[in-house]
Amino acid sequence: MKTDDNVLFSPLTIKNHTFRNRLGVAPMTRMAAGRDAIPHQDVLDFLVRRAENGAGLVYTEAIVTDYESAQGYPNQSRITTQRQIDAWKQVTAALKRAGAVSIMQLFHCGRMAWEDVNPAGRVIAPSPLAPQQVNPLNGDPYPLPEEMSAFDIEHVITGFAESARGAAAAGFDGIEIHGAHGHLISQFLSSYSNKRTDRYGGSLANRFRFAREEIIQAVKAFIPAHTLLFFRISIGAFQTCPYRCFPAARNGRT
Ligand SMILES: Cc1cc2nc3c(=O)[nH]c(=O)nc-3n(C[C@H](O)[C@H](O)[C@H](O)COP(=O)(O)O)c2cc1C
Repeated sequence: MKTDDNVLFSPLTIKNHTFRNRLGVAPMTRMAAGRDAIPHQDVLDFLVRRAENGAGLVYTEAIVTDYESAQGYPNQSRITTQRQIDAWKQVTAALKRAGAVSIMQLFHCGRMAWEDVNPAGRVIAPSPLAPQQVNPLNGDPYPLPEEMSAFDIEHVITGFAESARGAAAAGFDGIEIHGAHGHLISQFLSSYSNKRTDRYGGSLANRFRFAREEIIQAVKAFIPAHTLLFFRISIGAFQTCPYRCFPAARNGRT
């Protein structure tokens, strides 16, 4: 009979990628990139050290998907320029040498974006509703977001697709689309923050359309078939917000 320890330290294969164990470094936003949106070397070295110390899976921080309205925290990273790709290429090569599977996480903050750190100074969301919580970094209320137009939706999808292409070019084994924690994609999924009356709002299927039929499909078209594609989702409450992706979810259970 297998003990829990055996499972934890046993390998797992998905597609043609073998995780040597079930220990992973979670995606962690570091706010440590320069103006070029490339993390400082010590942040990159931190990831590689985790692999050298035995982690089977190493996630990057959440990478911001465009230069317009996606960014929620200062000094975040992107992967849409050759320099950014080349910087991450060194990391994926080092992670591979150390035996870890590498995943780059991609996100757009939506109404939790911070206009001061976004080049376009805009904050967009499925519906014009501000979060109840304050911005944890400066204690100010979040601004009222602009409701996303059809053009904004296209632009955001393109940002995910281009960033995924950048991640694949940098040699990542996989990509994770961040659909959790109250950021843009989960704002679409939840009837709490999505009050749209078009094809992106209302029914569960409509609220999932942005993620499931559009972002995931656009990303898939840009990445090789062997690249892993993960999606992170929140099921229950997020901080004080009565957040629900699924009508039946109660107390974090589905
Ligand atoms: C400093 C910090 C930054 C984080 N940034 C992200 C992020 O960029 N993307 C994400 O999906 N989760 C992020 N998280 C959540 C973690 O991935 C993880 O789910 C959370 O820390 C709970 O796991 P733990 O109990 O092992 O800490 C962050 C957590 C911390 C502490």
